Amino acid sequence: MNIQIPCKEMVIEQIDDVVKSFLKCLSGDVDRRLVFAIHELIINAFEATLRKYNDQASNYPINLYIKMEENVILVEITDQGDGMAHHLNPIDHKQLEEVLLQDRGRGLLMVKKMVDKISFLNEGKGFKVSIEKRR
Ligand SMILES: Nc1ncnc2c1ncn2[C@@H]1O[C@H](COP(=O)(O)OP(=O)(O)OP(=O)(O)O)[C@@H](O)[C@H]1O
Ligand SMILES: [Mg+2]
Repeated sequence: MNIQIPCKEMVIEQIDDVVKSFLKCLSGDVDRRLVFAIHELIINAFEATLRKYNDQASNYPINLYIKMEENVILVEITDQGDGMAHHLNPIDHKQLEEVLLQDRGRGLLMVKKMVDKISFLNEGKGFKVSIEKRR
C-alpha cells in the first residue's frame, strides 16, 4: 500500500481505520501495537508539516507505505517538513520512564517499544521514518 495522506485534520482522524483494514487484509490480523506506532508517526508527520506550511499544509501530503516481506511488516512514513533535528530525537538518549509523566515527548519512545526496528532519514525534500515489526 502506498498512499498520499492530505494534511487535513479530518483525513488524519480517519486514517487509523484505513490502516487497520489494510493490515487485516495483508496479514490476517491487526497488530494493535503496530497500529498505535503508525498513528503516532502520522501525527508527528502532520505536526511537522503544519509547523512548516501552516495553512498551506494540505498541499504537502504525507506518504504512507506499508508492505509485508516474509514475516516482517515494513512501514515508511514520509513528510515534507523540515525533518528532525538530531538533538530532538529522544530514541538514543532518553528512557520512556523519564518522560512518562510529561504531556509531550513520549510518542517516539513508545513507538520504539512497540516495534522491532525504527530508523530516521532526512531526505532532500522530506523526512522519512521507517519501522519494522515481525509478525
Ligand atoms: N516527522 C517529524 N518531523 C520533524 N520533527 C519530528 C518528527 N517527528 C518527531 N519530531 C520531533 O521529535 C520530537 C519528539 O517526538 P515525540 O513523538 O516523541 O513527541 P511529541 O510529538 O513532541 O509529543 P507526543 O508525546 O504527543 O508524541 C517532536 O517534538 C518533534 O520536535
Ligand atoms: Mg509525537
